[in-house]
Amino acid sequence: MSDMTEGPRDLPQGSDGEQDEGSRAPHRVIGTPPPAEARTLLASEQEPPQRPRIIVPTGPAAKRGERLVATFFLLSGLASIGFVASYVTLRPGSLVDTLRSNLTLGIAMSVAFGAIAIGAVLWLHLLMPKVEIPEDRHSIASSPAERAEFADTFAEGAERSGFVKRPLVRRSLLGASVLLGVAPLVVLRDLGPLPETKLRHTAWARGRRLLVLGPNTPIRPADFSSPGQMITVAPEGFEDNQDAMAKAATIIIKFRPGQLKPPTVMNWAVDNIVAYSKICTHVGCPVALYEQTTHRILCPCHQSTFDAARGAKVVFGPAPRALPQLPLGVDSEGFLISTNDYHVPVGPSFWELGGSGFSGGNEQS
Ligand code: FES
Repeated sequence: MSDMTEGPRDLPQGSDGEQDEGSRAPHRVIGTPPPAEARTLLASEQEPPQRPRIIVPTGPAAKRGERLVATFFLLSGLASIGFVASYVTLRPGSLVDTLRSNLTLGIAMSVAFGAIAIGAVLWLHLLMPKVEIPEDRHSIASSPAERAEFADTFAEGAERSGFVKRPLVRRSLLGASVLLGVAPLVVLRDLGPLPETKLRHTAWARGRRLLVLGPNTPIRPADFSSPGQMITVAPEGFEDNQDAMAKAATIIIKFRPGQLKPPTVMNWAVDNIVAYSKICTHVGCPVALYEQTTHRILCPCHQSTFDAARGAKVVFGPAPRALPQLPLGVDSEGFLISTNDYHVPVGPSFWELGGSGFSGGNEQS
């Protein structure tokens, strides 16, 4: 009958019943690595140095592998060509066309990348020699001898990979790589045409009526009779065009006689009404606040302040130049119109650096 009060059974006992010296080694749990000392012993004393085992694929299996790898590279090349073809033929337009175009482009590009990756993996598994090399731990920095050995190994690997000896694989890989690199370039077309001088012009032109933004109605000078008011206006025909309004948004302000001072261009005002660009010349926020008593236009973004009575010149803040003034007139029905586009570009002042020849003020032509 076993005695349940005995000591632990896993502690080996010497013949005299006492624990001997060798058994004092820490009890090792199955699945954990042996102590470092034991590992050193195993490496240096118990195991003979291993020699690299090299298995070189040859014969019909290697030929089959070569054809398989080349097939995937060719598939990648075809998918790249398919990407370009579908980009050219399936143009986005309606929602369905856009979905179809995106789906086709996505599938073609996925197949191109996937096939080239699979080909590379198969090349590694089916064609390259399998080399088992035991490597002892060493310090991180490589010695000159190790670096030289690496260079030799690299050269040897390049030779064994068959990159030189297997022209079918090499050429199909190079072809697929070139096509894969070139295919995405076609999407550069989506950047659109160069803006040329479009950014320097707005939708304002000779004879274009000013519409009060919101009700979108034209306005006569007599309708705008209270000095101190500021109204946002849009060029007729562009009031719902957000792209055009991003540059063409304009404010008009009514003054009392004698309040307007230089450098306001007096003959661009009608009945003491002046029009300025609503786009701040700092970084393009819409100037939205007008202080009637001081004639100050305020940009809420960085507090640039413009003097509306003096050509909207900057009196405070980071804006580097005045708000451009729009030349105004009246048409045969008495409605306010622009007599031209702005004479200088509206908005942020990178224009001054862009070689436009613009010096910063409201210049009459
Ligand atoms: S955008 Fe107007 S002050 Fe900065």
